[in-house]
Amino acid sequence: MDPQDNEEAAVLEEVFSSFAEDRRYLIRILQAVQQKLGYLPENAMKAAARHIDISEAEVFGVATFYNQFRFVPLGKYHIVVCMGTACHTMGGQLILDGFERELDVEVGGVTPDLQYSLDRVGCIGCCTKAPVVVINDAIHPKMTPYRVTEVLAGVRDKGARNLEDTKDNE
Ligand code: FES
Repeated sequence: MDPQDNEEAAVLEEVFSSFAEDRRYLIRILQAVQQKLGYLPENAMKAAARHIDISEAEVFGVATFYNQFRFVPLGKYHIVVCMGTACHTMGGQLILDGFERELDVEVGGVTPDLQYSLDRVGCIGCCTKAPVVVINDAIHPKMTPYRVTEVLAGVRDKGARNLEDTKDNE
């Protein structure tokens, strides 16, 4: 069993022990798993089905019905493009297209090296800074499609510097 499987098993055990074996808790169980793992692995959905004794198809059906759930892991850098009204009217779609093109990844996906994942979201509440992109916890205000490359370069550069800091502290 690799470490990731161990982590997944520990999370499932913890989540399942917090909820009774009752189908009423399905969505809350899925939310709790996603909150801890960042996404819903297929095995976790199958385990949830066993836990509350319903079919896997029903769990998959519920999970795919709600767009709050994601089925691929988050990247090291999770990029969220705001597509609320203000950001959308100020070019949000072009910015989203820019990230898709630059990273060769679709919305809801992750790059094969698990470095970058991309999502869209409704208004995040800072419309005066529209259009807005959030990368991990950092807000990038007044984005333009032309700044996509620059912002990604900054993220890569910061990641490289953090790695240097870690080495210096060893
Ligand atoms: S619409 Fe993007 S922050 Fe409000």
